[in-house]
Amino acid sequence: MSFAWTRLVGSESFRLTAIFTAAICVAMLVLMALVYAITHEALQNELFSAIDRDIAAIKSGYRSQGISEAREVVNQHLYHGASSDFLLLETSWGKKLAGNLPPMTPRLGKVFMELPPQASAGSHQSRHILGEGLMLAPGLYLFDGRDLDLVHDAEEDELAAFLWVLLVSLGLATAGGLVLSHLFLARMDDITETCRAIMEGRYADRVPERGAGDELGRLVGTINAMLDRISGLMENVEQISSDIAHDMRAPLTHLQHHLENALSEARNEEAYRGAIEQALGETERLLAIFHALLKIGQLEEAIDVRTLPRLNLSHLLEEMADIYRPVTEDSGHILAVRVTPELWVHGDRTLLAQLIANLIENARAHTPSGTHITLHAEAASSEVVMMVCDDGPGIPQAERERVFRRFYRLERSRTTPGTGLGLPLVAAIVRYHGGSIELDDQAPGLMVRVRLARA
Ligand SMILES: Nc1ncnc2c1ncn2[C@@H]1O[C@H](COP(=O)(O)OP(=O)(O)OP(=O)(O)O)[C@@H](O)[C@H]1O
Ligand SMILES: [Mg+2]
Repeated sequence: MSFAWTRLVGSESFRLTAIFTAAICVAMLVLMALVYAITHEALQNELFSAIDRDIAAIKSGYRSQGISEAREVVNQHLYHGASSDFLLLETSWGKKLAGNLPPMTPRLGKVFMELPPQASAGSHQSRHILGEGLMLAPGLYLFDGRDLDLVHDAEEDELAAFLWVLLVSLGLATAGGLVLSHLFLARMDDITETCRAIMEGRYADRVPERGAGDELGRLVGTINAMLDRISGLMENVEQISSDIAHDMRAPLTHLQHHLENALSEARNEEAYRGAIEQALGETERLLAIFHALLKIGQLEEAIDVRTLPRLNLSHLLEEMADIYRPVTEDSGHILAVRVTPELWVHGDRTLLAQLIANLIENARAHTPSGTHITLHAEAASSEVVMMVCDDGPGIPQAERERVFRRFYRLERSRTTPGTGLGLPLVAAIVRYHGGSIELDDQAPGLMVRVRLARA
């Protein structure tokens, strides 16, 4: 508990909260001082304007009917006025004529005085009086004052209220800081925990996503996306290694058998040569598998296709058809090209050539002679649609997903040469170019449709 407390108080967010709280307190103190000064001034002004009104009334009484009226006004005022009002009308030689103050030495202008307890009737405390003294007429002194303690009380109340506001703000800011730091730290802990779990080998762990939308939520989202990407790449690497380990074993064992047989059975140079040629054929096949697997692995992720050069797909299809026409004719297939000219895409020329070659090669290798193979390409809104069609046996609906798996071949093709890596490589090339691929029924035959973005 004490550890958690020190960690909380030592946290960056708590430090920031403390700084902000201190800044808020300073700002509030400045504001309060200003308010205090302004109200103090206003109270004093109010006090003197009330005094001025009294003095004006007494003056006008004196002017109209002399001292007796001035005394009357003073008495009336004291009778009706508040107990905080203090008045004194006296002669300049100290004879009190009216008022509730003892006679005093006349003092002119703003006067502050402290009245001892016994002098102020009914009060056991000395009173502080602020007022104004003036000569009403030569030899006639008037003092009009107000109890300052009332003003002081109001100011004390104001200060007490200020103090409370300050204390409550301070408490709220500190509590808020603690809660926020706690929440922040809890989410940081989530991230630390997940990183630790990943380091310990629990690759499937992800940071819990709470409070999505804020900065931390976005950070967590990015971390999780990064972890997904890393584990995807790791799975890919694992998949490739296990594919290699699994599918290389059979051809390598074959190779070993052939070489052992040659060693034990071959009697002459011709037999040795035959065995070596066979072994070379098998190593070539092994290297082709390696090459295809590595290529598929490298192409696993799509890139920003616009960074690739523009290329004329119509040209490329024509060129590939020209290259493959002799082999297709040799095997009795009929190759036709129906391509809209000037179809431009962004792409890697070698990879797209490999894609077209694999599809033509499939249409040739997995169909009987006499089959028509057609290369189509046309523009469709923002895409280029390229199709390699044949009217051979096709691929049954249930198998159309599976043929994209590495090494997967239809039952009927098991006896023909091939590795089952042609279509996975095609799919990887399409993915790399940000396109899509689908297999369709030509009734009869297969249609492979590839969509790429138009450049
Ligand atoms: N045009 C097609 N007509 C009928 N079946 C096809 C056609 N294309 C592919 N297939 C089937 O899909 C399987 C997978 O094709 P893929 O190209 O991946 O491997 P492959 O051609 O057998 O071997 P590789 O291409 O690696 O030499 C093939 O074995 C075949 O059974
Ligand atoms: Mg193939």
